[in-house]
This record gives sequence, C-alpha cells and structure tokens, in this order.
Amino acid sequence: MEKDLIILGLESSCDETACAITKNGKLLANVISSQIEVHQKFGGVMPEIASRLHLENIACVVDEALKTSGISMDEVDAIAVTRGPGLIGALHVGIQAAKTLALIYNKPLIPVHHLCGHIYANEFVEKLSFPLLAVVVSGGNTELVYMKDHLDFEIIGETKDDAIGESFDKVARVLGLPYPGGVAIDKLAKQGKHAYKLPTPLHDGSLNFSYSGLKTAVINLVHNLEQKGEKVVIEDMARSFEDVAVGMVIDRVKKATKLYPVKEVVLAGGVSANSYLREEIVKLFKNSDVHVIIPPIWCTTDNAAMIAKVGEYLYREKIFAPLDISVDPSWKIEDFKKF
Ligand code: KG4
Repeated sequence: MEKDLIILGLESSCDETACAITKNGKLLANVISSQIEVHQKFGGVMPEIASRLHLENIACVVDEALKTSGISMDEVDAIAVTRGPGLIGALHVGIQAAKTLALIYNKPLIPVHHLCGHIYANEFVEKLSFPLLAVVVSGGNTELVYMKDHLDFEIIGETKDDAIGESFDKVARVLGLPYPGGVAIDKLAKQGKHAYKLPTPLHDGSLNFSYSGLKTAVINLVHNLEQKGEKVVIEDMARSFEDVAVGMVIDRVKKATKLYPVKEVVLAGGVSANSYLREEIVKLFKNSDVHVIIPPIWCTTDNAAMIAKVGEYLYREKIFAPLDISVDPSWKIEDFKKF
C-alpha cells in the first residue's frame, strides 16, 4: 500500500490568509481568514494593510488547520505555498511562514503558482481530463490556458490591459457599489436590461482580451449622464456591462475550442463565481462533446485547499525549492517550475 501523502498549503496572495491540509487529495481542513470587511472601507484592497493583516493571522490559520484536521506537523509531508502572482508584501508573509515551517520541521518546500491553484480547485469537483481549456478569470488575471496534461500549461490568450475582475470592481465603484464589485454587479444585473450601448474592444481575431476600454466607456457614460442631470439606471448599466464583459469571454472560448482539440473546459478564479458566465458556458457546450466543470463557489475565492492540491502533484514530481527562494508578484504560469 502506498504511504499517505499529507500536504499543508498556505495562501496569502491578496486579501485572504489561508491554510489547508489535504491527505491523499482529500480536504481535512480549509481555514480562511478574509480581510474583505477591512478593505471595503477603502473601496479596494490596500496592499500595506493586507500585508499587516496576513502577518497577524497567518499563525492562527495554521494552528486552526492543524487542530481541525487532527494532523501534527510531524505527519505533514511537505509545505506548499503561493509564490505568485499577487501583492508583493502579502506574498512575502506566506512564503516566510512556509520557509519557517519547512526549516523547523525539516519538510520540503513547494512553491505554487496561484493560478495553477485556481485551475486545480476544480479537482475538488472531479478529476481533470485532458486536453482541456482553463478559463482563468480573476481580479488580477484574465487568460486562456491550454493543458495537454497535468502540469502542462500554455497561455493561448490573455488580457492586453486590465483583468476582467478589475473592470468589474472599477465599474462597481463608479456605480457606488461596495467592494468586491463583481458580486454586486452580478446581483444587480439580474434585475436590469441591456439598455446602454457599450463598445466591445479588440476585434483582432486573436484569443486575447481587453477590458480597459470597456471600463473607461462605462465611467465616461456615467459621468456624461450625470452632467446632463440624467439618472443612471444602475441595474441596466450593470446588465449592459456584464453582457459585454462576459460576452468577450464566451467569444474567446468559442474560438479557442475550435482551434484546439479540447475535451474539457474548466472555469477558474474569482470571476468564475459570476452566475451569467456560468450559465453561458454551460449553454455553449450543452449539445457538444466538450465536458464543462464549474467550480463550487467556495473555491472560486482565494483559499489554500487549491494550493495544497497543486502541492500534491508537484510533490510527486519532486518539484521542491531551496529555502532562499523569494516571491514573484508577476510569475507566469508557464514558468511554474522556475524559481
Ligand atoms: O480570484 P480573485 O480573488 O482575484 C485574484 O486572485 O486576482 O477574484 C477576485 C475578483 C474580484 O475582482 C471580484 O469582483 C470578482 O473576483 N468576483 C466576481 C464575482 N465574485 C467575485 N466577479 C463577477 N461576478 C461575481 N459573482
């Protein structure tokens, strides 16, 4: 019988401090300390405050994950930690904590790419099958990743400017909605209609995205209407914006699955919680051979369960790092073995 594989995962790339423990792929503990309420006061994540809060909370989430799982540090086989991409100061807290645990308990250290984590979160639903297309849509990234096999990542399309989540957050802000804006827009859009005409940027036939022009168009339209003394119907603006933003994803996914021999499409990242995107992706492949995995809402937000999950695959490949590694705030997924 194979020996049990126990991974302790740590995540601190943005505004969630998290620790999880997996045993042979099964989740034994998944502790998340969210900073959202603190950042809400500022209308977005304040990097300096995020780092300080990670520092305050990291030991507590580790302690709680060990208690909940009933696992001792001696039983843990390796420490997996998010090395990037993300906020530099926030990432440092997780990496330092992971290095400390690895040094004290003499465990291998496994640096994990945050977006690999979001893709592999889908394995808490079912095993990935290949070749697949991962639609990575989050606050900091928008990319289409083609995977021929496990740990084989090829970016086939990406944003040329803003990330989709960033545009949801900025549009929400101009409409007076709370952070994180995507959640509020998702809700409001359901009550609105596509009444405002907005541009669909980047018609170059590629698989790339562009969200900065769309965001600016909404901001300008809102300001123009306000200057004329006209009321902005925020439900309709939310609907109009969401249609175009999600429409761009659907268009690129449609194109990508024609160009690449894809068996499966998986959604990943914070914006994959968007109910309209979920519906449209399912609709797109309803009568086709392409299988779709929609992650449960709990793993669309940042968590360490997904980091531990990738950690298992990297452990089997013996992809370990020396204790002098540092973070990489703009680490590319294709370089996940380079540190
Ligand atoms: O994955 P995540 O934490 O960001 C990064 O790690 O970069 O995702 C956060 C983003 C935010 O921009 C938030 O507004 C967006 O995900 N988001 C949503 C929804 N829930 C969260 N966007 C659209 N619809 C949602 N339901």
